[in-house]
Amino acid sequence: MKILAIESSCDETACAVVEDGVKVLSNIVATQIAEHRLYGGVVPEIASRRHAENICGVVGAALEEADCTLSDIDAIAVTYAPGLIGALLVGISFAKGLAMSAGKPLVPVHHIAGHIAANYISHPDLKPPYLCLVVSGGHSHIVEVLDYTKYRVIGRTHDDAAGECFDKAARTLGYEYPGGRFIDEAAKLGDPEAYKLPHPKVQGREYDFSFSGLKTAVINLVHNAGQKGVEINRQDVAASFQKTMSEILVGKTMKAAQDLGYTTIGLAGGVSANSGVRGALREACEKRGFKLYMPELKYCGDNAAMIGCQGYFDYLAGKRADESLNGIATLSLDKLCEE
Ligand code: KG4
Ligand code: ZN
Repeated sequence: MKILAIESSCDETACAVVEDGVKVLSNIVATQIAEHRLYGGVVPEIASRRHAENICGVVGAALEEADCTLSDIDAIAVTYAPGLIGALLVGISFAKGLAMSAGKPLVPVHHIAGHIAANYISHPDLKPPYLCLVVSGGHSHIVEVLDYTKYRVIGRTHDDAAGECFDKAARTLGYEYPGGRFIDEAAKLGDPEAYKLPHPKVQGREYDFSFSGLKTAVINLVHNAGQKGVEINRQDVAASFQKTMSEILVGKTMKAAQDLGYTTIGLAGGVSANSGVRGALREACEKRGFKLYMPELKYCGDNAAMIGCQGYFDYLAGKRADESLNGIATLSLDKLCEE
């Protein structure tokens, strides 16, 4: 079955056509990053307006690239939560219009479930249950993926998300928004042992994260050096930061896997593109004999192919929406299971 999927939860207007959950026939992403970069972060009002301008063209291009017309499509999937509400509503309204006018079923998809599903596209052999580390610009979770549509979040951040922390550290070092990938590039040329950075702990919640202490340590390091007139090596700071971040993320994921008896591990979200996190997780899993699955780089960031993939599993599970579907800015994966 062919699903047309729409994603507009943040600053990417995306549409894809996906066959039987894993065959990506087209995957169009129109990014607004260049415009938001001027402001150092995503401006919600601008995001909504650009989605409204781009969505017709993006959906048309996805159908064309897949060599399909709307009559070849069996269902429409759309991201409805979590995300920027105005941005979500553009995709949702467009998807509702398409579904109602063409008489196709409408499938509401959770954005983070979509990120997790990106793994199924590249690895059709991956099957739940497994443990997934989800690290994006807005979320840092350790998730038990109990089934294709059932999740238990066992670890979450108490402050910044991992991607947010990458971006703030990058900004402190003078890189443009979103700076995660610039840290990644700079880290390849730096010494990861040059600076000792803290591993913040969360009292009594061993799988939870806290990144504000790490973020502040980078800010203080750079500002103190500036005040003393000491030259700071950006590549060394980037490498030390990325190493510390990878140790925190991988350490907690491994602990959870061992405690709960998981031997299959997944990685998901925009930060899953980070070479340091990927390398550290690969090494830790190899050491323990765990099987590791990571999305292809093109499916790490926001895209609609992952929504089409998850939409397929949600469709099989009987999830449907009607014209009353609304966007939800914050919705935990746990809540999804209680629906
Ligand atoms: O999942 P995503 O595309 O959007 C959200 O759902 O939030 O994640 C975006 C985040 C940004 O913080 C971005 O800097 C980060 O993913 N990111 C990276 C890399 N590529 C993207 N962080 C570290 N290293 C990268 N290579
Ligand atoms: Zn995302």
